[in-house]
Amino acid sequence: MPVELIESRTLRFGHRHFLPIMLSPMAGITSQPFRQLCLELIDEYCTQYDTQSTETLAGIFVDEMVAARAIAGKISKVRAKATFAHNERFRSLQLHCTDALWAQTAAFQIASERLADHIDLNFGCPVKKVTKNGGGSALGANPDLLRAIIHGVKRGVEEGCDNNSEAVLPISAKFRIGIDDDDVHFLRTAEIAVEEGCELLTLHARTAQQFYSGKADWSAIKLLRDTVPKEVLVFANGDILTLEDAIRCVRETGANGVAIGRGCMGRPWVFAELSEYYTTGSTFALRPKLKEVVEIMMRHLELTVSWVKAQGNSELAAVKLFRQNIGPYLKGFNAKEVKMQMLKAVTVLEIDQAARQLDLEQDYPTALESLARGRSRSQKKVFLPPKW
Ligand SMILES: Cc1cc2nc3c(=O)[nH]c(=O)nc-3n(C[C@H](O)[C@H](O)[C@H](O)COP(=O)(O)O)c2cc1C
Repeated sequence: MPVELIESRTLRFGHRHFLPIMLSPMAGITSQPFRQLCLELIDEYCTQYDTQSTETLAGIFVDEMVAARAIAGKISKVRAKATFAHNERFRSLQLHCTDALWAQTAAFQIASERLADHIDLNFGCPVKKVTKNGGGSALGANPDLLRAIIHGVKRGVEEGCDNNSEAVLPISAKFRIGIDDDDVHFLRTAEIAVEEGCELLTLHARTAQQFYSGKADWSAIKLLRDTVPKEVLVFANGDILTLEDAIRCVRETGANGVAIGRGCMGRPWVFAELSEYYTTGSTFALRPKLKEVVEIMMRHLELTVSWVKAQGNSELAAVKLFRQNIGPYLKGFNAKEVKMQMLKAVTVLEIDQAARQLDLEQDYPTALESLARGRSRSQKKVFLPPKW
């Protein structure tokens, strides 16, 4: 791959340079242990790139969403979860907001207390308990409140950084195409977001009604890229599971970068594959044997336990939280019974003992790599507040 292409793929966002890669925020999944692991794997597998010393950062690895109200209200349990690892040089926090004043207060606190280096705004969550209170994807259908929230966040970060423009945290917005096929409003959302100061837009190219089902409509991403000013970054999201998908999506849409969600569940090394591509041009696929996958999984578990314990919770709580990762790691391997044992385990030792029964020499099930993982349920009714 020519060097020019790779250089042109380095993005500038908020006074920093990045590879064009994003870990798409996922509640319960993209918390500190997972992000730390993704960065460790980039360092382990990339031949010419190092997350700690290279000026260009490895990408934007976004924490799971946090309620602005909880940050603003200084709810200690919530703040204790929104932590970052020592190897995260750019700390991205995602806020979900339902009210402009809370949003502004939360942004002010994040900026003034230096809780993060970037705020991403969640306008895409389709879950009932979020949308029925006017948050997540409901906001695209209420342009005045959407504008007020982004405006509040921008003011909050400016005031929190004493209007020092070099230090002001960049803000970004993540949204869907619309509520359903009859209410498609992503271009309006984008226009408002840009007018109010978002420097980066991530489009999950589905409607809220689709939830995670059906196919993401990448043509909407292309339309967004063709519509918003060039200096605003557009990240593509939806059904980008592998490096090949990422390359194809960027080629088809012209997006500046790719945001990977479910594709990295059980495959956190996908970011190493992307980083290697964007720094050397090499399209290598890691495809670790089961032995290596189990090592990565156990490291993920170890990081989860120390993170959960640091919040004052037990090993059992960590093991329970970790369970959702076991299926994705073992997907496609001959590991059915061991997986069941692991899912019932209540200690790390039990998971470790179960892993010892596996035939660790199994090759990576390549055919499954590009199949959807995580949630892909059917369409759902979107609940909006009354008179929305
Ligand atoms: C379990 C789960 C949790 C999610 N949580 C969030 C979240 O907190 N914030 C958000 O903006 N999107 C969230 N998403 C959406 C993803 O970030 C992403 O937009 C979506 O999964 C589509 O991308 P993908 O096809 O790469 O998975 C979540 C998705 C899943 C599957």
